Amino acid sequence: MTRASGVSVAIPEVRPAAPRAPFDPEVVRRQFPIFRAARPKPLHYLDSAATSQKPDAVLAAMDRYYSTCNANIHRGIYGIAEEATAAYEDARRRVARFVNAASPRELIFTRNSTEAINLVAYAWGRSQIKAGDAIVLTEMEHHSNLVPWQILAQERGVELRFIPVTGGGELDLAALPGLLADGRVKLVGVVHISNVLGTVNPVAEIARQAHAAQALLLLDASQSVPHCPVDVQALGCDFMAFTGHKLLGPTGIGALWARRALLEAMPPFLGGGEMIREVKLAGSQWNELPWKFEAGTMAIAEAVGFGAAIDYLESLGMEHVFAHDKALAAATMERLREVPDLTILGPPAAKRGGVVAFTLGTIHPHDVATVLDDEGVAVRAGHHCAMPLHEKLGVPASARASFHCYTVPAEIDALVRGLHRARKVFAS
Ligand SMILES: Cc1ncc(COP(=O)(O)O)c(C=O)c1O
Repeated sequence: MTRASGVSVAIPEVRPAAPRAPFDPEVVRRQFPIFRAARPKPLHYLDSAATSQKPDAVLAAMDRYYSTCNANIHRGIYGIAEEATAAYEDARRRVARFVNAASPRELIFTRNSTEAINLVAYAWGRSQIKAGDAIVLTEMEHHSNLVPWQILAQERGVELRFIPVTGGGELDLAALPGLLADGRVKLVGVVHISNVLGTVNPVAEIARQAHAAQALLLLDASQSVPHCPVDVQALGCDFMAFTGHKLLGPTGIGALWARRALLEAMPPFLGGGEMIREVKLAGSQWNELPWKFEAGTMAIAEAVGFGAAIDYLESLGMEHVFAHDKALAAATMERLREVPDLTILGPPAAKRGGVVAFTLGTIHPHDVATVLDDEGVAVRAGHHCAMPLHEKLGVPASARASFHCYTVPAEIDALVRGLHRARKVFAS
């Protein structure tokens, strides 16, 4: 690839992954400084669906960037600027390869998943969607994959349709053919793994049906790319959004992957420096992909950290990470049966990733989380940015335990102890 400025720069190829050690969460955990920090009581971090913790390797990569080659990218004609550009573009290659993109040009860095979805809604949506068209979403979407489409729908007179969620917390796919039947649907947007229910959705089948109806498939992979192998080509995606901070990387960096032909045809999202090839007072020509969609100075250190996080996850093996998540979800669901009045939201363990949301009798989830915090157990409580889903499930809020590669069984024990204590506290 050449630099955005048009000056050639040698971008190192992605290094082959180091040989893998056997997956051991206790060993993995020791590589995360937050768990080594001295504190009055141990930290039981069960909120990885909100954001993941960061391993030494990610922090070191970002520190190395700032300490050795901090400079703006694609611009400077001097050594450290070339190194910074190489580091940034090398990160892009790693992220692109991780999801099996056909080319790094298909991988646009964004701030997060939310910005990636907004990029699609603005650049693709505003150029392709007109009054009378329809968009199919699901009732289990995170607000990030709902609100941008609501804004577009209001602006353009577009109909939003929803694949229902069953009482068991799965998508009612029997409804999809009917939703697609009139040929007005231009896009189907679906979350891969629900951040509330943990449900792993049958994306390839949804993509097949969407394409048969001439609609495109947008995948919100915020909870899947960080936890399991994801192959955009095998799944049949057209757009896919994901976010670095849930993937052991830093905040402030995420990605949109999209098929190259779509990106080529789309107008830019944000205008400014870097995304142009030539500017005259009367108008501008856009840069080539991927830079057409990367206006202004990007989050360079964060991109480097994102790339390092991917190296780290690859060294663990995504299949091991996912198996670990699933085993923890199954063990948690089993242990939670000991807690009276507790209701788990969502499908059986075999159909979910590492997320377990629940309610505890009439105790408000915020109160549950507060008692758990006293025990050093960090869980999320609230609607988890999925208010329509909670409404559908008939609960205003829930508490949620979620896991990653560093989660260990002792943390599940602490959760269960804390829940028994919450029942005692609120029984009196
Ligand atoms: C399923 C899902 N989609 C989208 C997002 C939004 O991610 P971000 O806030 O990084 O844009 C989240 C974050 O919780 C999520 O769980």
